[in-house]
Amino acid sequence: MAGLGTARRVARELRRDIASARERDPAARGVRGAEILAVWPGVHALVAHRVAHALHGAGVPLLPRSIAYVSRALTGIEIHPAAQIGQGLLIDHGTGVVIGETAVIGEDVTLYQGVTLGGTGFATGKRHPTVGDRAVIGSGAKLLGPIEVGRDAKIGANSVVITDVPDNATVVGNPGHVVRVDGRRPEGPDADWIHLPDPVADAIRELSTRLRELEAAVTELSGGQRPPGEVRELRPVRGRHPAGG
Ligand SMILES: CC(C)(COP(=O)(O)OP(=O)(O)OC[C@H]1O[C@@H](n2cnc3c(N)ncnc32)[C@H](O)[C@@H]1OP(=O)(O)O)[C@@H](O)C(=O)NCCC(=O)NCCS
Repeated sequence: MAGLGTARRVARELRRDIASARERDPAARGVRGAEILAVWPGVHALVAHRVAHALHGAGVPLLPRSIAYVSRALTGIEIHPAAQIGQGLLIDHGTGVVIGETAVIGEDVTLYQGVTLGGTGFATGKRHPTVGDRAVIGSGAKLLGPIEVGRDAKIGANSVVITDVPDNATVVGNPGHVVRVDGRRPEGPDADWIHLPDPVADAIRELSTRLRELEAAVTELSGGQRPPGEVRELRPVRGRHPAGG
């Protein structure tokens, strides 16, 4: 059963969480600890998680999930009780953050609103990301699968990351690609990940140009009457949904 030692540990972690909010959230500078504790949703979600995780570790049934459920309803932040979260996590703003069951988060990590540390499908076992110390994950970023995000890595807002990220690298885009390592652009013939050739887009562009020219020619031949274009109705996609916890 969770005892006095666990309560002390949770209290220690909580103090560190409040200090992290003060250090890394500009809006929290100069704000008293009690106020942060009272009205910072990221801190509320962490307090709830610290308690739920301790109870989960002690084998208490139902209560950990109930705490996580209430916490999600109040803060908009969903953290599975089994997720391992290091000290000093800052969840800034928070709404829409989802942290999956087998996610592991190092120390002093920063997550902005809308971050998902999720799975890619219906796999079981380790299926969520491991995030290194001091990493910063921008708002709306989706990190999917059992990938490793290195220490001091930065993930740009709205990136979708499905492969490992080296230490001290910046990753942006969908799919996420490395644009900085140790603050410098990656060098070498294959390093320009931003301006990759896109043969499919090129072919569509070419087709669209030729279609426009063809339509102009037909319009001219038919005495100024523009041919009607074919409009296809969009049908809903069928089949199993590919997303999973
Ligand atoms: C990625 C980020 C952390 C900056 O990291 P950085 O290492 O300092 O990177 P830079 O600013 O030097 O940008 C590197 C390149 O990525 C591009 N980039 C930066 N953020 C990007 C993003 N979110 N999406 C796409 N491209 C991005 C830059 O334009 C730059 O491109 P270039 O190589 O053509 O010059 C920052 O841009 C970011 O997205 N932070 C998230 C902040 C956030 O979510 N705030 C919410 C507060 S409410």
